[in-house]
Amino acid sequence: MRWTRWIAITSSFAAVAVAAVMVSCATPPAKPAAMTPQEKLARGEHLVVVLGCGDCHTPGSLYGAPDAHRLLSGSELGWTGPWGTSYARNITPDSTTGIGTWSADDIVKAIRVGQRPDGSPILPPMPWQDFANLTDDEAYAVAAYIKSVAPVAHKVSDRLRPGVRAPAALVFPPPPKWDAPLTPPAGAGSSAPH
Ligand code: HEC
Repeated sequence: MRWTRWIAITSSFAAVAVAAVMVSCATPPAKPAAMTPQEKLARGEHLVVVLGCGDCHTPGSLYGAPDAHRLLSGSELGWTGPWGTSYARNITPDSTTGIGTWSADDIVKAIRVGQRPDGSPILPPMPWQDFANLTDDEAYAVAAYIKSVAPVAHKVSDRLRPGVRAPAALVFPPPPKWDAPLTPPAGAGSSAPH
């Protein structure tokens, strides 16, 4: 009698334990909660600062004095190399001189693939090859933040073809052998002024 009671009790405990394990296996692991819009903007701002977008896109940055009132509004300091002269563009949401008409997808494509909405390549020294490693969450947070900054009306100089002298530019000589890229940068030498 005792034995049978003992077996009944243990087996009912075992049944409860098995059921508990089955329930816990059936419940999918909790997904991390999606970012709130505020968290997304804060994440985007953090990334834009840490990734150094302002170094090139905010006037004064490369002289050690970034102008917080003209954040990301482009620079008049050109970058001359085998590709001609490129200028870090106005990436504020101004709809005529900035990228106000670009969607978040357009911005993500530009920073991860190095291509504008019209398919034209983004030239050096924009380091999109590094930004290609951003996850979707990170890249879209960057796009959301860029779309939220104050629009600044500032028309950045058009790109110059190779051989055209730029008024103010950092000039890269042809790369030394060690630094010579395996392939020329996309669009190098053949790009029309933007
Ligand atoms: C080392 C300098 C540098 C850094 C850092 C940099 N950019 Fe750029 N970026 C450029 C230059 C130069 C161009 C224009 C290239 C050309 O004319 O094709 C450009 C172009 C762009 C464009 C295309 C704009 C247009 O109107 O065509 C976008 C968008 C952009 N950058 C976003 C960013 C973001 C976002 C970051 C940070 C995550 C960043 N850039 C960091 C130099 C830089």
